[in-house]
Order: sequence, then structure tokens, then C-alpha cells
Amino acid sequence: MLNRIKNIVLFASGSGSNAEQIVSYFNQKNSARVVGIFSNSSNAKVLERAKRLNVPTEVFDRIELNEGNVLEKLKLYKPDLIVLAGFLWKFPEHIIKEYPNKIINIHPALLPNYGGKGMYGMHVHQAVLKNKDKETGITIHYVNENYDEGEFIFQKSVNIEGCNTASEIAEKVHVLEHKYFPAVIEQIIKS
Ligand code: GRF
Repeated sequence: MLNRIKNIVLFASGSGSNAEQIVSYFNQKNSARVVGIFSNSSNAKVLERAKRLNVPTEVFDRIELNEGNVLEKLKLYKPDLIVLAGFLWKFPEHIIKEYPNKIINIHPALLPNYGGKGMYGMHVHQAVLKNKDKETGITIHYVNENYDEGEFIFQKSVNIEGCNTASEIAEKVHVLEHKYFPAVIEQIIKS
């Protein structure tokens, strides 16, 4: 019997370069499709990308996320996996409870270092630069009720000795994310 094509729903707050990589990757595969992109920002670049890629979108505010409405919308997409790809808000407990072990996040550092409240986006790379670390990397992990504390699924490091700015570090981390995130998602979805 043929395996059913699985449904992936993405959550993204910003540019959405990871979201685009994931959509394009699965457009070439029979394992899964990105069926929707949810964003908390109506002018996020990820929404332009979604339009170009023909992926339906949902935009919501903090109240809709935390008080039920987003969960109702999410259910309509029947997600097999929910992927936070550059989603900056805390994910609400009632959604996590509804989808146990079906929500994953990518963090742009080698957790448990540089995780927790306030450690997102460029703040992470600035802290790494300030500490003069020789390497940084990515962590893909399950999402639980605490920031960046769910079980690790995958980590990859990169040497940043030649980097002089947080933007250069971010660029190196993005390269890793684009290279590994879609394939790790595929492994999870097939297991
Ligand atoms: C990524 O570095 C991700 O790890 C972090 O936010 C960034 C999002 O980048 N959580 P993009 O929007 O996918 O370009």
C-alpha cells in the first residue's frame, strides 16, 4: 500500500528563508507537503514567499494564539507535524498538549547554550560573538512547555573563528539550517 502524503504546517515570524527551503524540498518528494504557513506578523516576508509558493497562510495575534482560535484553525489543516521555523513567540501549552511529540523547533545555536527567554534571532548570534566562541551551530528539538528545553533531535556545529560580526555568524548558521532542516523533518515524518 502507498504511504499517505503527510501534512506539515509551518509557523514563522520573519523572513521565512527556512520555510521556503522546506516547502521547496517537499514539493520534490512524495513523503509530505507543507499545507499551511501560520504567522503572527501580517507584514512578515514569509507571507510573500508563501503566496509565491502557493501555500495557504493564516495570520493571528497573541490573543488568538493563546486563547483557542489558532488551534481551531490548525486542526482544519490536519497536521502530522508542526514545524516552528523562525517562530519567535512562546508556543502555547494547550496546542502542545493537543499535538504531543508532533511539534519541533529549530534554534540557531548549540543548545543548551544560548537558549531560553530572550535568546532568539540576532540576540543569539550577538551573545556568541561577545563570548568569542570558536563554534556555533543549530539544534532541532521537540517543543515542550519551556523555551528550548524539549528533547534534542539533531545538532550540527560550524566553525566561526573567521567571523567578526553577528551577521556573519547568522549567515553561517542559515547555511546549516537550509542544508539540514528539511532532511531532518523528512526523517521524523517517515519514522
Ligand atoms: C533562523 O535562524 C531560526 O533558527 C531562528 O530564526 C531564524 C529564522 O530565519 N529561530 P528565516 O526566517 O527562516 O530566514
